[in-house]
Amino acid sequence: MSEHQFFEIDTDFISEVSTETISWQEVESKAVKDGTKLKALPTASVEDLRRIDRECLSWGDTVHYQENPIFVTGCQQGLVFDNDSNTYIDTGMWHSSCNFGYRNPQIESEVLRQFNTLPQACGDFLHREKLLIAKQVVDAIYERTGLKGRVSFNVGGSLVVEDALKIVRKNTGKNKVAVMMGGYHGRSLATLNLSSSHRYRQYFNEFPERAIMFPFANCSQCFYEKERDTCDLYCARMISKAFENEYYGIASEISSEIGAMVIEPCQGRGYTIPPKDFYQKFITDLRERGVLIVADEIQVGMYRTGKLFAFEHFGFVPDIITLSKSFTNGLSPVSLVWARADLVDPKVFTPGHAHSNFANHPLGTAAALATWRYMLAQDYETSVPAKGEYFLAKLRQLQVLHPFVYSVDGLGLLLNMVFADERGLPYRNSAQLAAAIAQDNDFTWLGKTWRMILQTGGYDLNVLKFAPYLDISYEEIDCTIGVLDQVLQKLGPMLSTQSMPIGGVK
Ligand SMILES: Cc1ncc(COP(=O)(O)O)c(C=O)c1O
Repeated sequence: MSEHQFFEIDTDFISEVSTETISWQEVESKAVKDGTKLKALPTASVEDLRRIDRECLSWGDTVHYQENPIFVTGCQQGLVFDNDSNTYIDTGMWHSSCNFGYRNPQIESEVLRQFNTLPQACGDFLHREKLLIAKQVVDAIYERTGLKGRVSFNVGGSLVVEDALKIVRKNTGKNKVAVMMGGYHGRSLATLNLSSSHRYRQYFNEFPERAIMFPFANCSQCFYEKERDTCDLYCARMISKAFENEYYGIASEISSEIGAMVIEPCQGRGYTIPPKDFYQKFITDLRERGVLIVADEIQVGMYRTGKLFAFEHFGFVPDIITLSKSFTNGLSPVSLVWARADLVDPKVFTPGHAHSNFANHPLGTAAALATWRYMLAQDYETSVPAKGEYFLAKLRQLQVLHPFVYSVDGLGLLLNMVFADERGLPYRNSAQLAAAIAQDNDFTWLGKTWRMILQTGGYDLNVLKFAPYLDISYEEIDCTIGVLDQVLQKLGPMLSTQSMPIGGVK
């Protein structure tokens, strides 16, 4: 018998269910409670469990991007607790998968109710929550765009993006799509054609259907090396231009080889917010040539930017929309694709065009419905921009205090902080360094001890990305900024020696 078969799971611990809420003032007792409980496991110590990770798990996922991954034992609102009773302020909320807070009692209780009534149901049947959430989404999109549409469900982000691609192919007869450099649409074999990083594809042979990629309006690191004040959105004009002349290779005056452009309205890579008129400058040219517009709202939808959908800020209306992550507040991988009604008319997109066994899982549809109802009951259109402005103003104060902060930006509660020198040369890997400092050290704020989870991104891993839970209080923002300031104080002296390669980064 192999050694790991001796390990037993303490079912007492994992079946503990609670919908209690705690405030940030009470967190220490909660952390200690959960940490102590895990330490008390009789047959599998944390070291045993970490040994399982070393010996039994493929490390092909993203856990071992980090040298010292957190061993999570609990979570609540915007906090995460680990096995050593540390409390982490989570500034990223699982890459915007839990916009409405961990263990949100109003959402969780609905999932528990479903668990006790219809925990399983074959996807070939109908059930109440699936239909009710479909109606909520269809109505909300109609209110915002005037477009009638239909939805279908799938599992996780990549697969609904693939469903979107199927809808494009079925309706346009074209396989080729366009995307933006820096965009991310998943890591399945089909969505790897769209995600920009070469690194994700390089080990897996050819991708004959790889998307055409255009430079995005990433103004702190412009592809064309222009300045925002004087560029007149050169990048947007170049996209338009590419469609103007048959000799540029992808379009003529009336047609295009491209079926769709897939857009992340604000990019998850660096939480980059393009200028408000960026998309308007080229979308009409694409539409005139029959190109469909897909808005991938998987990361930036669900009020992250202060509007239900991020595209609402940018003056265009998509033909297809994808949602995942916070669609169920991270309680289930059920995801959704909405498409204009004519594109998925039952005579066009016939039964069997899309399917996955778990696509309509009733725990997921219940989570989505509860999340949606919770979301609409709040006033996020007011509170998120107000809190975002407050958070951004605090980030600006940190920029003044720490000269290696090159720029800060935000839209609602999607914010970024870029590390670069005064010429704009990025401090490569500086955000990763900041994240490790924040995660592995104790910081004090108002007499309590905190650690912090920081999300990193940017083309040179030189961007901190902030996506706190949307119900964060102003006191919690102050605490977050107070701890971040201390992280930056530690980071500053390390930059020139550790993260800035000799000669800078070109
Ligand atoms: C915008 C966007 N699209 C698609 C995906 C892929 O989702 P998943 O990881 O669930 O496949 C992600 C995931 O981060 C994303 O942010």
